[in-house]
Amino acid sequence: MNLAYKILNAHLKKGELVPGTSICIGIDQTLTQDSTGTMAYLQLEAMNVGHVAVEKAVAYIDHNMLQTGFENMDDHEFIKSVARKHGITFSKPGNGVCHQLQLENFSHPGKTLIGSDSHTPTCGAMGMIAIGAGGLDVAVAMATGKYYVQCPSVLQVKLTGRKAPWVSAKDVILKILQELSVKGGVNKIVEYTGEGLSDLSLTDRATICNMGAELGATTSVFPTDENTLAYLKQQGREDEHVEMKADDDATYDETIEIDMSTLVPMVAQPHSPDNVVDVKELEGMKINQVVIGSCTNSSLPDMMRAAKILKGRKVAEDVSLVIAPGSSSILSMLAQNGALADMIHAGARILECGCGPCIGMGQAPLSKGVSLRTINRNFKGRSGTNDASVYLVSPEVAALSAVKGYLSQEFEDDMALEEVPDTPFVKNPNFFISEYIPDNEIYMGPNIKPVPRGDKLTDTVSGKVVLKVGDNISTDHIVPSDSKLLPFRSNVPHLAKFSFSKVDPEFYNRAVKNNGGFIVGGDNYGQGSSREHAALVPNYLKIKAIFAISFARIHRSNLINNGILPLVIDAKDYDFFNDQDDYELSDLLTAVEEGKDIVVTNKNTNETITAHLSLSAREKVMIQYGGLLNAIKELGGD
Ligand code: F3S
Repeated sequence: MNLAYKILNAHLKKGELVPGTSICIGIDQTLTQDSTGTMAYLQLEAMNVGHVAVEKAVAYIDHNMLQTGFENMDDHEFIKSVARKHGITFSKPGNGVCHQLQLENFSHPGKTLIGSDSHTPTCGAMGMIAIGAGGLDVAVAMATGKYYVQCPSVLQVKLTGRKAPWVSAKDVILKILQELSVKGGVNKIVEYTGEGLSDLSLTDRATICNMGAELGATTSVFPTDENTLAYLKQQGREDEHVEMKADDDATYDETIEIDMSTLVPMVAQPHSPDNVVDVKELEGMKINQVVIGSCTNSSLPDMMRAAKILKGRKVAEDVSLVIAPGSSSILSMLAQNGALADMIHAGARILECGCGPCIGMGQAPLSKGVSLRTINRNFKGRSGTNDASVYLVSPEVAALSAVKGYLSQEFEDDMALEEVPDTPFVKNPNFFISEYIPDNEIYMGPNIKPVPRGDKLTDTVSGKVVLKVGDNISTDHIVPSDSKLLPFRSNVPHLAKFSFSKVDPEFYNRAVKNNGGFIVGGDNYGQGSSREHAALVPNYLKIKAIFAISFARIHRSNLINNGILPLVIDAKDYDFFNDQDDYELSDLLTAVEEGKDIVVTNKNTNETITAHLSLSAREKVMIQYGGLLNAIKELGGD
């Protein structure tokens, strides 16, 4: 058995490990961040449960940290009060980015984790199955200890060779993205094997697992070894080490091989993380801003390597360099070992430990500006500046380019960090609150509005196509995440006004005027972050179904959780749909119950096609009841 299936098998509650079928797995750990967490905890509250049913649940505050109004602080206070009531550990703002903190403090070989953030797979570096899911799925896992997911196939990435100097883990995953594309990992677990593993530290592996999310993968996983043990030792948790590895005769559904000795520094160009070329091709490109940080590249070794390049040098006059260490522990250590001073002396702006610029919370680039970032995504507008160009690179290339003022790989020998420090981590327990107060009063500020609920399925559903879009529509397109909107993640009616605003500013008015209707998309609809709001908002606007050639995994689940039909159409039928025409879905009750294709009629032309809907038994119930919350309320259980 491969490692991925070993861990899944040890947690299997229902179903069989057959790719494409629905399985239920036991969940050991959950995590939420504030941006998706507010809604997840409103949903948890609606389920009326006591102490969480998982070994460890953590509520992080890392996304919406600016307090330019009362909204964010209200949300943080709400999450803290729910955490106390249900025995969830609360990580205070300033403690760091959820994935870095989870890795440092709670990751554990062989365990399962789901998190309401698409980069939850970061902890796959620790030999765990760590999956990003919608907030409601995480709420249900907290209430029941279970998670339903489509059983993935397993893609083996065999690593050979050793990285050349100045080639980093970021270049390994950028190379894989270049080869496989943002759709290459859909419904797959990426399992890393091979003698090249020894050349990747645990935080290198975390970078690779983190950006496995950009492949669309369910998750990524590494075996454990002496590098895992070294990291656990640094965290004072060596007694938690467990050997996790595939059997010698393990089989995989697919295999690719990466010879790391052939890699060079790489860069992902706007506006997609798979738009990757060698740095050499763009060398000399003038830049305005450099951002080092995010859950992808904010570990201690990442920061130390950047600091070494900056030491004794000066950030170019026309460049703004901002650095956000991944956790308060990392910041403390940088302060103690002098690297922080090296960064500041060079002219870097130090941000508090959190997501910050990665989620467009401050540090929006210049208009038409060029920003080099160590983050994982460069979708248009995500930085907060719609016409900016964001390029994704390693921390080494980022720091060097900040000094040069242009994209560069002209490294000098004295820039190399001889040794990555393996001194024990400085722990900051005062940033965590772990209490269980069953009758704790829930704090509800005025920014917090109820969770939208869907309607029960009816036999016929009709409406207008209120929006037709193309391929690769991301959750950012559906619900933008700029800093002005982030404080309203607990206020769906307000967010709805901005839905698809960057694609079609009239969408909201049209959806309201027509009392909902249908949306038509192309390939890979709903890619990107796990943002549940990309389904909650359409639910609120009474969108009944989305037609698309294919759906991104988490978004498809979120739609079903919200009682919205994710209907798959053949590519040839994309032109059957016209913006503003009226359509009807008929015999839905039987089609859903019996898993038949659904007849779609264009009421203006009377032409018909069929759309496909393949639902597990549990998903059927959710669609029939108008969403998971309704189903749980009426039926109980999971
Ligand atoms: Fe935060 Fe960006 Fe990661 S928003 S969780 S740092 S992808």
